[in-house]
Amino acid sequence: MAEIVIRGGNRLNGEITVQGAKNSVLPILAATILCKGDCAVHNCPNLSDVDVSIKILEGLGCNCLREDNTVIVDSRDISCYKIPEHLMREMRSSVVFLGAIIGRTGKAVISSPGGCELGPRPIDLHLSALEKLGVQIIEEHGYLYCDARDGLKGAEITLSFPSVGATENIILAAACAEGMTIIHNAAKEPEISDLADFLNSAGARIYGSGSDTIYIYGVKTLSGTEHSIIPDRIVASTYMAAAAITGGNVCLNGVMPSHMVAILSVFRDSGCEIDVKGKTIRIKSSNKLLRVPTVRSLAYPGFPTDSGPIIISMLCMSRGTSVFVENIFENRFRYVDELKRLGAKIKTEGKIAVVEGVDRLSGANCKCTDLRGGAALVIAGLAAHGETVIEEIRHINRGYDNIVKSLKTLNADIKE
Ligand code: UD1
Repeated sequence: MAEIVIRGGNRLNGEITVQGAKNSVLPILAATILCKGDCAVHNCPNLSDVDVSIKILEGLGCNCLREDNTVIVDSRDISCYKIPEHLMREMRSSVVFLGAIIGRTGKAVISSPGGCELGPRPIDLHLSALEKLGVQIIEEHGYLYCDARDGLKGAEITLSFPSVGATENIILAAACAEGMTIIHNAAKEPEISDLADFLNSAGARIYGSGSDTIYIYGVKTLSGTEHSIIPDRIVASTYMAAAAITGGNVCLNGVMPSHMVAILSVFRDSGCEIDVKGKTIRIKSSNKLLRVPTVRSLAYPGFPTDSGPIIISMLCMSRGTSVFVENIFENRFRYVDELKRLGAKIKTEGKIAVVEGVDRLSGANCKCTDLRGGAALVIAGLAAHGETVIEEIRHINRGYDNIVKSLKTLNADIKE
């Protein structure tokens, strides 16, 4: 089993280019199903979740070609509308294929994604929205059988929570539906706008993405297109925290600072110097990190839940006590017990984590419990005295394109 071994204590310095966003590339690869022509997706990170998406596409009958950071998908010969259970299990976000498959074939069969690493993750909002668009859904023996027998028809949909995945599924199902769809209380994450930009470049008519009302005028057909994935704001925050906790000086290239306003503000509060120029962020952290005012995860443009574990890990070595409130997922603190093995002082109760900064972390053996929790362990390991061994790194490989190589470039003593 692969593991990551870190000898902590090196200050990080240098520069790296941030990878394309995992949460953009997955729905965009799903969206290629709707396009009757070659789609070239550039700036595609090398992730196990991307491998799974490609397997799903190939299973449906698409031809996929991967060359460096470009994936070319030809879905002209789609012949199937079912995602095998083992692929659904590997990646919960494969539920986003649902809207695209129905949009293209009028049918879909997937296994229920069920609960997972962050607690229960229901898809009721996805399903009720699809029903409004004319999909009949039968749930039987752990499978969802979806059928839009009379075709997909535009509808007005109000989400009770601005779910990212549900907003994406509606956009995908509605892009080629008959008539207009309006999504009220839509998710505003940059990855939603990236999906809309991709589809619009293929001929879709989607307006208002990035705001809480999205208008989708169904079109008859979508063509092939080319698109470059936006930079990953969560990965950027990970390398920033790694720089901060080690007293480093790191320049991140190819980022979109306007997507990171809430994140940058927390780094500034912690005493780091942040310089933003165009698509570059430089972070300098020389003195001891400071405690920060309460951080609350919220839907975009609030502080992203996915950066929570990363910031909590950084705050483990700050001066004073900070509080983090997790408002999006019910069970997101499983990695905290692993951080404690390195000497972190964190108490959790319900959705609240209280982080008491310590002067020193010490290397230990620990295990990733989930993707961002795994990244939190890497950050702590970089600052800990002695050796940290991190197991179950398959979680990290779902979302980080060669984290070990990037951190090595920045002077970390790290190996896989
Ligand atoms: C996406 C991101 C994930 C991020 C999350 C919140 C991808 C692949 N994943 O996940 O990294 O942490 O957004 O920014 O893009 N909910 C329901 N019913 C539903 C759907 C969601 O109750 O039908 C609840 C969820 O349980 C959760 C909350 O809504 O408590 C947010 O979920 P959602 O925004 O849908 O997240 P995902 O799309 O799963």
